[in-house]
Amino acid sequence: MCGITGYCGPRPAAKVLLEGLKRLEYRGYDSAGICVAEEEGLRLIKREGKIRRLIEKVPTNIKGNTGIGHTRWATHGRVNDLNAHPHLDCSGNIALVHNGIIENYSGLKEKLESEGHVFLSETDSEVIVHLVEKFYQGSLEEAVKEALALLKGTYGIVCMHRDHPGLLIGARNGSPLVLGVGNGEMFLASDVTAIISYTKAVVYLEDGEVVTLTAAEYKTTDLSDREIEKKVEAVSWELEEIEKGGYSFFMEKEIFEQPEAIKRGVSGRIDLEQATAHLGGLNMSNRDLLNIERVRITAAGTSYYAGMVGAYLLESVARVPCTVELASELRYRNPIVERNTLHFAVSQSGETADTLYALRELQRKGATVLGICNVVGSSIARESDGGVYIHSGPEIAVASTKAFTSQITVFYLFAMLLGRMRHLSYEAGLELAHELQAIPTRVEQILAKQKSIKELAAKYAHYKNFLFLGRGINYPVAMEGALKLKEISYIHAEGYSAAEIKHGPIALINEETPSFFLVPDDGLKEKVISNMKEVKSRGGRILAVAVEGENSLNNIADDIIEIPKLKNGLFYPFLMVVPLQLFAYYCALDLGRDVDHPRNLAKSVTVE
Ligand code: G6P
Repeated sequence: MCGITGYCGPRPAAKVLLEGLKRLEYRGYDSAGICVAEEEGLRLIKREGKIRRLIEKVPTNIKGNTGIGHTRWATHGRVNDLNAHPHLDCSGNIALVHNGIIENYSGLKEKLESEGHVFLSETDSEVIVHLVEKFYQGSLEEAVKEALALLKGTYGIVCMHRDHPGLLIGARNGSPLVLGVGNGEMFLASDVTAIISYTKAVVYLEDGEVVTLTAAEYKTTDLSDREIEKKVEAVSWELEEIEKGGYSFFMEKEIFEQPEAIKRGVSGRIDLEQATAHLGGLNMSNRDLLNIERVRITAAGTSYYAGMVGAYLLESVARVPCTVELASELRYRNPIVERNTLHFAVSQSGETADTLYALRELQRKGATVLGICNVVGSSIARESDGGVYIHSGPEIAVASTKAFTSQITVFYLFAMLLGRMRHLSYEAGLELAHELQAIPTRVEQILAKQKSIKELAAKYAHYKNFLFLGRGINYPVAMEGALKLKEISYIHAEGYSAAEIKHGPIALINEETPSFFLVPDDGLKEKVISNMKEVKSRGGRILAVAVEGENSLNNIADDIIEIPKLKNGLFYPFLMVVPLQLFAYYCALDLGRDVDHPRNLAKSVTVE
């Protein structure tokens, strides 16, 4: 949802800014721009399209050691050069980049226009720079603070002034902003991936904070000028983790990283002696955990489907009633917070606005909310009452893959922990622990089938509509499979409970609409096979993910992807989802899509 960068130091700023923007491109790629303080004044370069188009336009000899940059995911105003950031004030002396939405911009714009300000773009963001211009009387920091005090909505901003060439002012309210503290240089960015090739010492800004920085020092204050002491934290991510390595796309790399990511998520968290799990960051005593009578999970997108798997697990393993709700819905329906209900907010980025606001609404009503996040120090990780990091390493591709399997890993651990405090026997706990530890090897076995899945994708990529069908714990996996396919290949796909198609979607079945069935060898297998026959008898093509040696499907399915047989059927979501991720990936490749930057999407959606 827009990425912003800022740099102050001895290096040529343009190079640092563009490199940072490339790393932030997953946040939006409608247009991009930079502004650098040159001796003659501010030099602004912006362009519609991806960062590489901007790079073509930036002259190699561009000078200046301070600057700001932006990559846009359009909300207000069309995708074009003029609406790209940075935006300038009327004099061309002040430049600003903004991530977020200013809700009261139209009133402010009208007023500013009546005072003679001339707007060049259709964006809400441009009002901020004109407000700064209006209030500027020699101190950029003061002017920015006065301007921010008038805004309603969310922002992460960075602002610079021609008369203060070594100075940047950054501020945050609802959209993330991180300060990187280097040796004689400072960085600002929407997230640490844009910074870690230069420094791993970072300061996470909180809402309502303003940072004033030069190459040598920084100061953090609130809007009323009170100074705030901030902790410098060390980032643990390594540079190699945010690079593609030998892979063509981040999505491919992240799919193949799953065995390692799951291992990391499990590592140090299983106690075989007690046949349970240890989850350090929950901030809950055993007594607190025992008092849990209900669980409610909230999330968006892929994290929501991981939450659905989690709910199924918590009910069946721990026998704790559990509900899942889309964060965007939960927030606005005046949710009932009951005593002894534990809440989870699940979010890879930890910045999704819908999920963050749902968390705040629940906390306001007195709920305990735990976060399940990947990004350390993210808003949800910081604002939740405790939680579990999934430790899957940076996920850069817009379509989420390894975060899903790592999120469900955490739910298996939590279900084990809660189950063992209740009715789950030592033997049953141990079986779950062993099964979870074996999952990475099983996932590797599936990844080894990449070639045949690629061939299958080539055979099916020309279809325009798909159904993904599963039941029980694999029902959310079917929905995730459909989401993956539509996100990156733009093929229309619906995820449904296999049982439910007879109540409507079966009307779509013909030779042109293949159905992808998930067929585990659990108690629902025969039911799923009956659903397959219903499709078959109506002339539908059938693909299946099924357990090795499942001969009964040979006359029903047109194509089968085999997965290893598991002792405990509850673990099939891991094995079912990986072929679906690969299928979507190869379909998108076959269709020539830009897999890591799918049309209209952004990875971190920090607006509602
Ligand atoms: C966006 C992304 C999805 C992601 C969802 C939730 O829509 O495109 O891939 O699943 O946000 O993101 P989160 O970071 O909260 O898991």
